Amino acid sequence: MAIPAFIRENVPLAGLTTFGIGGSARWLAEPATRAELARSLEVGRQLGAQILILGGGSNLLVSDAGVDALVLKLAGNDEFGLMNPQAEASLIWRVGAAVPLPALVAAVAGQGISGLEMLAGIPGSVGGAVAMNCGGRDGSIGAFVMEAEVHSPQGEARILNRDELYFRYRSSNLAGALAVNFVMQFTNREETSAVLEKMRVHRESKIAGQPVTFPSAGCIFKNPDGDSAGALLDRAGCKGMREGGAEVSSLHANFIVNRGGATSSEVAVLARRMREAVLGKFGVTLEPEIVLWGTEPAFIPLRGGE
Ligand code: EPU
Repeated sequence: MAIPAFIRENVPLAGLTTFGIGGSARWLAEPATRAELARSLEVGRQLGAQILILGGGSNLLVSDAGVDALVLKLAGNDEFGLMNPQAEASLIWRVGAAVPLPALVAAVAGQGISGLEMLAGIPGSVGGAVAMNCGGRDGSIGAFVMEAEVHSPQGEARILNRDELYFRYRSSNLAGALAVNFVMQFTNREETSAVLEKMRVHRESKIAGQPVTFPSAGCIFKNPDGDSAGALLDRAGCKGMREGGAEVSSLHANFIVNRGGATSSEVAVLARRMREAVLGKFGVTLEPEIVLWGTEPAFIPLRGGE
């Protein structure tokens, strides 16, 4: 079978994740157009490969052994990298899934539109951010998404409108779906300088409270209802706990940082110890927020198998 140039074999994934950890993808497809996407899905079907969707790799832990799958990463240089208001000065924007989230946040703020400034400093792609409904104390991205164009594994495109989309705390019905493009609606205009100032404040609070100088995948666990996973982990004494090159941040106990050479198995073992500490002290079972790829034995308990 002829494999097009935008599909490569045995591609290391560590460099495509913010953790900087993990083995290779059996196949990595980086389509830049809908035609290339359709071809990637067709090749995946012919290979009988599992399809995994990679965004900015900022909420992901890849197994050290890699993944025996066709990993799809939309390229941002063409159809999936668009970021335009529908008309001049419109509050409705069409945004490709491959657009880096920081680029969208800056572009919207630069037009004097407020709403996304609470996402300043969060890495990742717009596609990944929407799929997991990323956000913080002050709101999440899903609130702005009016429409999503999704493609099925068979290559059929569909538009999901607001009524067909649902967003919950750090999840949505787009998780695992292949969304390539969104319509986003913002509501407020402000002085550009005021929006930029709010962005600066959010970025600084993130830098002050989260470990941004070491590779990580953001928060490891979701916040349990009405509580903070970080605070529970902190009170359970997790800060500074270490497993090889993986360490619980001393700044925020819900972050594992890669101090250099950490393996995914070390991260998973450490995450399990953190969860046990909170369960033992508070009787609360924390659920992972990060996505785990691969069949690493250490992943099994975190996936809820134990
Ligand atoms: N806290 C501690 N010790 C810690 C960490 C936090 O006592 O080690 C306390 C803080 O002092 C605060 C409370 O816990 O009183 C909440 O902490 P924080 O404000 O940092 O918020 P969070 O709930 O831990 C959430 C998101 C973050 C997002 C921040 C800021 C989750 C799991 N986390 O963190 O998102 O950046 O709000 O808006 O929802 C992510 O999802 O990867 C992520 C980093």
